[in-house]
Amino acid sequence: MCGIVAYIGNKPAYPIIIEGLKRLEYRGYDSAGLTILNGDLVTVKKKGKVSNLEEESLLNNVDGTLGIGHTRWATHGKPDDINAHPHNSGNNRISLIHNGIIENYAVLKKALERIGHTFISETDTEVLAHLIEEYQTRDNLSLTDAVRSALERAVGAYAIVVIDKNDPNIMVGARKSSPLVLGVGEDEYFLASDASPIIKYTNKVIYLNDEDIVTVHRDGTYEIKNLQNQVQNHAVQELDLKLEELEREGYEHFMLKEIYQQPTTIKESMRGRINSEEGWVVLGGMTPFIKRIMNAKRIIFAACGTSWHSALVAEYLIEELARIPVEVEYASELRYRNPIISEKDVVVAISQSGETADTLAAIELAKEKGALVYGIVNVVGSSISRITDCGSYIHAGPEIGVASTKAFTSQLTVLTLMAINLGHLRGTINSDYFHQLIIALENIPAKVEKVLQQNDLIKFIAGELKDMMNALYLGRGYNFPVALEGALKLKEISYIHAEGYPAAEMKHGPIALIDENMPVIFIATNKSAYDKIISNIQEVKARKAVVISIVTEGDVKIKEMSDYCIEIPETEEPLTPLLSVIPLQLLSYHIALMRGCDVDQPRNLAKSVTVE
Ligand code: AGP
Repeated sequence: MCGIVAYIGNKPAYPIIIEGLKRLEYRGYDSAGLTILNGDLVTVKKKGKVSNLEEESLLNNVDGTLGIGHTRWATHGKPDDINAHPHNSGNNRISLIHNGIIENYAVLKKALERIGHTFISETDTEVLAHLIEEYQTRDNLSLTDAVRSALERAVGAYAIVVIDKNDPNIMVGARKSSPLVLGVGEDEYFLASDASPIIKYTNKVIYLNDEDIVTVHRDGTYEIKNLQNQVQNHAVQELDLKLEELEREGYEHFMLKEIYQQPTTIKESMRGRINSEEGWVVLGGMTPFIKRIMNAKRIIFAACGTSWHSALVAEYLIEELARIPVEVEYASELRYRNPIISEKDVVVAISQSGETADTLAAIELAKEKGALVYGIVNVVGSSISRITDCGSYIHAGPEIGVASTKAFTSQLTVLTLMAINLGHLRGTINSDYFHQLIIALENIPAKVEKVLQQNDLIKFIAGELKDMMNALYLGRGYNFPVALEGALKLKEISYIHAEGYPAAEMKHGPIALIDENMPVIFIATNKSAYDKIISNIQEVKARKAVVISIVTEGDVKIKEMSDYCIEIPETEEPLTPLLSVIPLQLLSYHIALMRGCDVDQPRNLAKSVTVE
């Protein structure tokens, strides 16, 4: 996924663009670039972080009040200065930035080369710039019409912004399957991938829809039309996002800030949705469709990465509490395997960013097959929140760290509310247990605080493990998905190979890996199957592994068997993942830091994968 920001107005564009790119850097950071129009197109592009671009830009004349900027996560062409965006047309008249993939770029490139165009980069994006140039010059079209003609021939996903040296008073934006937001300021306008570069200047935004093309004029007018040249009217929304939510606020990394925000964000995810005194739970998003959801033949979850781990926890929650059959699918697999889905099914898409391409595609497929599609999303106004039939926001606030932490526990909170709500309505949990669960859920934020107080112990254990080459995470029941999530956290920010596994399954192969060099992290808070997890630990100890265990506080037995042990407060078993994941988040954070890794922007990753 890439980050896009553009500005037209009466202020110098460069400072706005470069600061906007820093806010967007979490979306992709293998290279960055910008173009400022000041009589001529001044294009500066650099491999690496935005700070490299900043140094290079100051060697150029970047005065001007119209500009575009881009942070890249490479899809076509290696990360280097040439392949960085913006890409300019052959006649150096227009400059373009792009988030997405033009699937048919090779065919278009060959056609353009045949009529004399020459290319300098390996990217699909550069082809768009030349195609627009061709329509502009050959057919003498306006920039907007040339963009429309070019996009009619492009196949794939795009969010683009284009500027024209010969017309310093407009910028043109367009989107399909990649997000683009128009910021409406006082005599100034912004286009960006999300609201983070805009919110400092205005909270008035318009979320563009697929196939929208917006032309923004310096004189303070804008018009939005679709590919068929029909006028589109969108309401201006007022965001309640605050700038400080985008700052680190004294924490060394966004990831650490977001780990420590979890008592608050879990509370936010419950706000207005639970009341143990009055004895109710409600998810407003479900209410209009509650009959269809309660009587679903199956609930099918579609998600990726950490969100897929939340879905796995939801399988245990909903099948145990609401007795509705659940299937959990990787969205990338579901979208291509021609699944059997009908109107009797409910598909639940889970996504922090609300922009993950595979999850979007799975939603479209589910809708085509007649299922009701429910979205569980963090980013307000994101594509998934707008194409699903209904849904619930998790209200975790902006998650900037690439490794998802607070979004995971907020997803679990909403999924737990969903399961309790459905179980209560379907009568598959009695009223006593219902009350026990909602009291326990309301007490989770305070218990998360208690776990966070063990940061020093967890940091010490991280120091003992930081040089390990591999790690195995084992859990049973609700803690099996937590084992997968703990392993993913370690992998993605410390680059140590780690695997999550059902503890009992270890005997069917992975036990061959166990020796004194294989640390094994057990998530062993289970009440059910407690004796089984004890034997799993014994099996591992017998093969000289180093054992780290997450246990319920007061559990002396497992503590004595372990080399290192972290105790977490007791809670109802279905709520355990909300607590048992916290030590694993901190463990991976500290290990990555001790290994000198970039915790907030791990190599090769992006915050949201908006391409296949
Ligand atoms: C999790 O730490 C990763 N950043 C990644 O697996 C992420 O969960 C996945 O890409 C799904 O993103 P989404 O929730 O925004 O759809």
